[in-house]
Amino acid sequence: MTRDPKLPKPPLPLPPAARRLAASPSLSDKLRRHSPWLLLLIWFALSFSLFLSAAPPAASPLLRRPPAFLHHKPRALAEETTSAPPPAVRIYVYDLPRRFNRDWLAADPRCARHLFAAEVALHEALLGHYSAVRPEDADLFFVPVYVSCNFSTPNGFPSLSHARGLLADAVDLVRREAPYWNRSAGADHVFVASHDFGACFHPMEDVAIADGIPDFLKRSILLQTFGVQGPHVCQEAEHVVIPPHVPPEVALEILELEKTRRDIFAFFRGKMEVHPKNISGRFYSKKVRTELLQRYGRNSKFYLKRKRYDNYRSEMARSLFCLCPLGWAPWSPRLVESVLLGCIPVIIADNIRLPFPSVLRWSDISLQVAEKDVASLEKVLDHVVATNLTVIQKNLWDPVKRKALVFNRRLEEGDATWQVLRELEVLLDRSQSSYVGSWRR
Ligand SMILES: *[C@@H]1O[C@H](CO)[C@@H](O)[C@H](O)[C@H]1NC(C)=O
Ligand SMILES: *[C@@H]1O[C@H](CO)[C@@H](O)[C@H](O)[C@H]1NC(C)=O
Ligand SMILES: *[C@@H]1O[C@H](CO)[C@@H](O)[C@H](O)[C@H]1NC(C)=O
Ligand SMILES: *[C@@H]1O[C@H](CO)[C@@H](O)[C@H](O)[C@H]1NC(C)=O
Repeated sequence: MTRDPKLPKPPLPLPPAARRLAASPSLSDKLRRHSPWLLLLIWFALSFSLFLSAAPPAASPLLRRPPAFLHHKPRALAEETTSAPPPAVRIYVYDLPRRFNRDWLAADPRCARHLFAAEVALHEALLGHYSAVRPEDADLFFVPVYVSCNFSTPNGFPSLSHARGLLADAVDLVRREAPYWNRSAGADHVFVASHDFGACFHPMEDVAIADGIPDFLKRSILLQTFGVQGPHVCQEAEHVVIPPHVPPEVALEILELEKTRRDIFAFFRGKMEVHPKNISGRFYSKKVRTELLQRYGRNSKFYLKRKRYDNYRSEMARSLFCLCPLGWAPWSPRLVESVLLGCIPVIIADNIRLPFPSVLRWSDISLQVAEKDVASLEKVLDHVVATNLTVIQKNLWDPVKRKALVFNRRLEEGDATWQVLRELEVLLDRSQSSYVGSWRR
């Protein structure tokens, strides 16, 4: 075994960029001097203009110029990135044929915006930032495959049934055409698995567990939204927990967010079975959402809605507490939306592991209520209102925390992609110090 996930983590080393930051006036100080609203506007403008301008160059047909995905991009793109460099890890982004990524985006723009779209956002941010990295100098190799953009199911949700096949094809290609996969058996290759149960590629936990992580991915590094404390088949590979994707402009949809009147006490809108369906023995949300509705559906402090409403984010912006109960999976985009909209997330999903804990300190900005304690939810929330509500709200407005949850199309210091790089750097350091004759060679 080259990398043992059970090894104790060494104390988190600050990446060079972070060390530089700590020495100079801190990022948060700089940010605090401006209003978060203005900053968000700037971020939005930047990411939007990049999104328009930085469409990556089309891949050359693999057969005509093999291996096309090894030709590195011109240096110019890399130079114009943010002033402070991100963590020192160098990543080579494979230039795979379009059928693995761009074609999906061209076929349906939802591909770049929905809850699993971190696979697109990370690709674009890494491509922009690392265009000058040559494969022979890379620490890690990013394999950009969009598996969440097949909206062919009757309900319009992304179908994942083709995911394993598409990934297997990509791995075959990379393994055949370039020397790097075989060198490490894929251990320095990075994939995004942003679905319910991450690299198990199925929305139902029992099926996901039965299927497991495909063998060809088991030695690689997976960036996945799924994460729980303790062992789980779907996280039995080196991985980094990433936030669900929410379009960066979400926080700008509502003007003067900080001043919004929070006239809703506790908010939830979403799927919530009145009579939990017992589809082959499975209960949606382990019945938590049903219990929420049963206990608080008639309580005027709780604003619980089951119907879809496109403007639900304006409701979140009016709410003090936003309930984030598990669905099929423990996580949902509500986690990020709540933070961006200044609504305190109330996480009801036992054992959930949340993204970037060293930067975000989730206990400062959210509440966790055990699934079995839904009955005392109102009491917990009342207690917070009477004691530390303003402390949590103040923490929630920290632009550093908010930024860490947002994937920009162009890498920005402190944003979600930057945090991923920071965690990858920690993984690299660990693998190098814990194993004599590192897997990187
Ligand atoms: C998209 O998903 C459908 C249904 O799961 C599947 O039949 C189809 O082959 C997929 N399309 C591609 C291009 O993989
Ligand atoms: C990597 O190994 C596989 C399986 O042994 C082999 O088919 C492939 O040609 C190798 N790739 C390269 C670039 O040598
Ligand atoms: C749900 O369905 C499964 C399989 O059909 C069955 O074994 C189980 O008893 C059912 N559970 C309830 C609570 O009805
Ligand atoms: C606020 O109070 C709750 C309930 O007493 C507690 O669990 C939580 O840790 C506190 N949070 C902060 C940030 O003070």
